Amino acid sequence: MKKRILSMILAATMVFALALTGCGSNDSGNSDSGSGSDGGSEEKAESNGKKVGVAMPTQSSERWIKDGENMKKQLEALGYEVDLQYAEDDIQAQTSQLETMIAQQVDCLVIASIDSEALVNVLDQAKEANIPVIAYDRLLMSTDAVSYYASFDNEGVGRKIGEYIEEKAGLASATEPQTIEFFMGSPDDNNAVLLHKGVMSVLQKYLDNGTLVCKSGRTSFEDTCILRWSQETAQQNCENFLTGFYAEDDLDIACSAFDGFAYGIKAALEGAGYKVGTKWPLITGQDAEVMAVKNIIEGSQTQTIFKDTGLLAEKCVTMVQAVLEGTEPEINDTETYDNGVKVVPSYLCEPVSLDKDNYKELVIESGYYTEADIENAE
Ligand code: BGC
Repeated sequence: MKKRILSMILAATMVFALALTGCGSNDSGNSDSGSGSDGGSEEKAESNGKKVGVAMPTQSSERWIKDGENMKKQLEALGYEVDLQYAEDDIQAQTSQLETMIAQQVDCLVIASIDSEALVNVLDQAKEANIPVIAYDRLLMSTDAVSYYASFDNEGVGRKIGEYIEEKAGLASATEPQTIEFFMGSPDDNNAVLLHKGVMSVLQKYLDNGTLVCKSGRTSFEDTCILRWSQETAQQNCENFLTGFYAEDDLDIACSAFDGFAYGIKAALEGAGYKVGTKWPLITGQDAEVMAVKNIIEGSQTQTIFKDTGLLAEKCVTMVQAVLEGTEPEINDTETYDNGVKVVPSYLCEPVSLDKDNYKELVIESGYYTEADIENAE
């Protein structure tokens, strides 16, 4: 059932993407490997030389690079050997990487999927080979081969984006309608569906009462999702919205689910003659990428969601230890993440809204970034 809904959404997105942009997905195609296995396991008794395969979706977005580095560092510190692989958003490449890890008899798999429905067969192979699987950040759908799930509160991410817009645009007491367009995540990523749900739990009432006006009429997830979280598609969609619906009125709010989208939206706005500091819209994002923080300081992006990937890796590592050493992982949700076959025991980290007023406290004082990281971002 879920599978059917997802394929319907996928088909609808493709039609939408084609209609709007004249092109479909934006796979970069390459499969690239991160680093191999150089962990000195001898002196670390805990791990008994066990090997963990970590499959990450892409290096095209900064967060996944940080995720991979954190997982590798933390697992190696416990003495595990780590095989870290990136698949550059190519589903077939990720499947092959997992098949190789299974053939090499890794002891555990940690997977941040590209398409959460596409790995069912390879996950069956892992199960047959008695290799436990942990879903990282993105839920693995339609499989009973997954033991645990470490992520952020994904509906909470959407709610925080919605609440930020509600507060900063003064929606509760607005006397004039404001225009808004939506740029939502990939239809094959369960996180994207939940994020949209969270956004609408706050903003739907303002669309219903006319405080928010979406001139393109595209507010549903099916109509606003962007396959593979493509920055280029977000830019093209925004360009099409601006020429098609905003020739006379300005766009006031771009509700974007990802920093990458915010960069595309910024480029589209600049192309249409918008200027930071005059009629620039409120633009949201997700991931607190270093470039996004720089843009927030400069004013070309308004907000993002900070997700501490070091903390996520910590929680995920407790799950690896649980399946390999028989310890108890930290779990704080046993109800929300139903993948269509089972409810996967989860740990959900707390997402935090970041803007120019709190970025220093969140990412500089915490040591997440240095001032120089932000200055040098490009
Ligand atoms: C993650 C987000 C990320 C997006 C695009 C989602 O699954 O939860 O943090 O922005 O993928 O990479």
